[in-house]
Amino acid sequence: MIDVLLGLQWGDEGKGKIVDYFAPHYDIIARFQGGPNAGHTLYVNGEKIVLHQIPSGVFHPHTANLIGNGVVLDAVTLRKECEAVARFGADVRRNMFVSKRTHLILPTHRALDKASEMQKGEGKIGSTLKGIGPAYMDKTGRNGLRVGDLLDKNFTTNYIKLRLKHQRLLDNFNFTEDISSWEEEFFEAIEFLRTLNIVDGEYWINEKISAGQKVLAEGAQGSMLDIDFGTFPFVTSSNTVTAGVLSGLGVAPSKIKDVIGVTKAYCTRVGGGPFPTELHDETGEALRKAGNEFGATTGRPRRCGWIDLVALNYACMINGVTKLVMTKADVLDQFSPLQVCVGYKVNGEETHQVPFQMTRVAMEPALRQFDGWKTDTSVCKTPAELPAAVHEYIAFINQQIGAPICWVSNGPGRDQIVAL
Ligand code: GDP
Ligand code: IMO
Ligand code: MG
Repeated sequence: MIDVLLGLQWGDEGKGKIVDYFAPHYDIIARFQGGPNAGHTLYVNGEKIVLHQIPSGVFHPHTANLIGNGVVLDAVTLRKECEAVARFGADVRRNMFVSKRTHLILPTHRALDKASEMQKGEGKIGSTLKGIGPAYMDKTGRNGLRVGDLLDKNFTTNYIKLRLKHQRLLDNFNFTEDISSWEEEFFEAIEFLRTLNIVDGEYWINEKISAGQKVLAEGAQGSMLDIDFGTFPFVTSSNTVTAGVLSGLGVAPSKIKDVIGVTKAYCTRVGGGPFPTELHDETGEALRKAGNEFGATTGRPRRCGWIDLVALNYACMINGVTKLVMTKADVLDQFSPLQVCVGYKVNGEETHQVPFQMTRVAMEPALRQFDGWKTDTSVCKTPAELPAAVHEYIAFINQQIGAPICWVSNGPGRDQIVAL
């Protein structure tokens, strides 16, 4: 049986914290897409750690962690992260597994990402520059190298062939940066990767499921960054939605039970692209400050705005969300009134659907106002302790979305979560 946990907005919903909270109830946590563009923040014994490649169940010794075939893997990041988690007592050689079919991010993928963004100029996506797009392009272009290829004696020859191909593309971009130190690091990290548990991920996971083990599939990014359903072209290069779990792990749809969607109590986006509820005023600034909204991977300030129920409804529809987690409710403690986006005004008419191309239409959010709670919710432990205004806010969202909010996260700490 598999439950899925994924972000419903533009990423950074707090997935890492929530996976860490649920992990003791699962035998396996499996990442199914994305790569080191992800930054999932966890607090272990009160200390902060950000995971990019390793699934967020790594700190639970009885939970196995799988890096699935749908992920793109940067061996250099992985190696550094394995060393970092070891300092917290996690032993990746015991509880982490990597699929042979996982594609590798090469140093030249990172260079190509940078070159492509530079060429786009004003229209740049705001990529994390981790090589995600170029690595997935080599996967679908049928050129990429996979983790299982490391076990092949021709690996270095095949690497050089692909590198030459990339060099020609980089020459076209007039990219002249010296990346030889990246290559050195890469080969050292490759040696390290060879020593980890490399498995036939699809057999590995299906055997465990047949034996009755429980899996939580951990999404990266968010539904509005999905390559098919997000705000294209300002998206990432993978399927971040539930459908990605099937191809990203090699599991059948009948195995999926709950789809747990994570949303912030408001909304953020980092990088370029449309964001209908974005606040360009002091309220937006105040949200960024109160929520400490700076990218976990790049440190960039996140754009902030009100919760968008049109986009949230769309994400719930595409994902088949059965339960919701609302994070960062405590960030709204000091704000009143609050606004909730219930529709988009396009050419004087209100729509409740996400348009094909948000950037091509003049859009304004239709907002509904709520009283804030003006209370410190970060100390609440039970539903009864949450102020009535929080319950009203939640009841309205439940009624608009059709899937219930079952947990409210009220702080970054492991135990700051209220089950409703
Ligand atoms: P992810 O990418 O979805 O895992 O989210 P990030 O880790 O990039 O960003 C979420 C940020 O919010 C992190 O700094 C978390 O520590 C923090 N966070 C998570 N849940 C809460 C919450 O309920 N309240 C507050 N104040 N911070 C939270
Ligand atoms: P987590 O898992 C927020 C954004 C980038 C950029 C776009 C494409 O922490 O929620 P890419 O590097 O994939 O080519 O960038 O997607 N992006 C994220 N934004 N959280 C993430 O991951 C993101 N991963 C990518 O900022 O706009
Ligand atoms: Mg993040």
